[in-house]
Parts: sequence; structure tokens; C-alpha cells
Amino acid sequence: MASAHAISHMTTSRGATCRDSTTRDLMSQSSDKQPVWNDSRMDTKLLRRAMGRFATGVTVVTTRTPDGKFEGVTANSFSTVSLDPPLVLWSLGRTSASFNSFHTASHFTINVLGLHQIALSQHFSTPRLDKLSGIEHRIGHGGCPVLSGTIAHFECKTESVVDGGDHVIFIGRVLDASFHDGEPLVFAKGAYHRAVSLVEEVAS
Ligand SMILES: Cc1cc2nc3c(=O)[nH]c(=O)nc-3n(C[C@H](O)[C@H](O)[C@H](O)COP(=O)(O)O)c2cc1C
Repeated sequence: MASAHAISHMTTSRGATCRDSTTRDLMSQSSDKQPVWNDSRMDTKLLRRAMGRFATGVTVVTTRTPDGKFEGVTANSFSTVSLDPPLVLWSLGRTSASFNSFHTASHFTINVLGLHQIALSQHFSTPRLDKLSGIEHRIGHGGCPVLSGTIAHFECKTESVVDGGDHVIFIGRVLDASFHDGEPLVFAKGAYHRAVSLVEEVAS
């Protein structure tokens, strides 16, 4: 049960706010009808939808295991971390079929997808054997596949692996990177989008 004391310390915001379900009942008498969240009985669906409001790019993270198996996973958890030293991160669900492969591999490559690569995103987000079969690529650092036609890529050596609850966080040191012209593929609210430049819209 959330006490009145606890409720008084919960933060409110203008967006989807987070309070517990007991509070939700209490708060339903107020004018605030926003969805609520509780850190002891978390509403996972609400949390997922709230997280989906944060628009991201779409990447395919690839690797090669010590015994030579290629893997690739669609991931929007990619984030830049540091310029000096050059570090990036991404997270992988512990129940993913490819979890052991990434966990044992020494390197990974982040392939940043362009707007024209929705099919690749769908391909690598669907469990299947030998995901690299028929996918155009070259071999980069650590034997990892570097996909063709992307708008950027980062070849990384795994620097550390950090516990992230039901995910693990891979932090990689960037050994090589490139970028190319092309529109980024955007993922938000569970769907693919294209990025619109507000500056260009104002100017045109
Ligand atoms: C746009 C998008 C982003 C995703 N981001 C992640 C992510 O960051 N981490 C993750 O573990 N799964 C993510 N997934 C789900 C995986 O791609 C999916 O579970 C895939 O089947 C994992 O590959 P595996 O089954 O070969 O391990 C994402 C899926 C989509 C469509």
C-alpha cells in the first residue's frame, strides 16, 4: 500500500507519469488522468509504451563467435558514450537466442540503418539460423560482418559487459567508423518513421 507520505514524494510531470497502482486509484479522483507506474508492482506495458516515446535510430549489431559463427541482431538501444576514448554501448536481452554468441565474442560492429533498410531491420529482429546468409557484407575487425549500404558503422572491441537487469550492456571501444549520405531510419512508438529536418522545413 502506498502511504500518503509516499504519494507526496512521487514526482509528477506533464507526460506519462509514474505512480503505483494504489496511488492510481487514489489519484483517479484528481484531474490528473495520466497512466501511472509503481516500482514494486511495475506496469511493464506502460513502461514499454513510455520508453517508446523516446525516438531512436535503428542498428543491426553483428559479431563473430570464437568458433566462427556470424550473428546479427536489430537493436535500437545503441548509444554513443564517449569521444575520448571512443566508446559506444548497446544492450541485449538475456533471453535472446544470440546472447551466448555476443557474450563470448571479443568484438561487435554497429551497423546504422538507413531509411531504405526496413527489410534488414525486420530480418535481423526475427529469430532464424544463419541470419547473415544472403546478406551483403564484408568482414571487418574481429571478423565481424560489416553490412553494405548502411549510413554509418562502428567496429568495436568489447571493453566491458555490464549487468542491466533482463539485458546486458555491451560497452565497446570504437576501432574504426564510417558514415555515408542517406536518411536515417527512425523507430518510435513501436513503428518505423523518417526524420524530418525542421530547419529545412522552416527554410523551404
Ligand atoms: C526496432 C527494433 C529494435 C530492437 N532493439 C533491441 C535491443 O536494443 N536489444 C534487444 O535485445 N533486442 C532488440 N530488439 C529485438 C531483437 O531484434 C529480436 O529479439 C531478435 O530476434 C534478437 O535476435 P536473436 O533472436 O537472433 O537473438 C529490437 C527489435 C526491433 C524491431
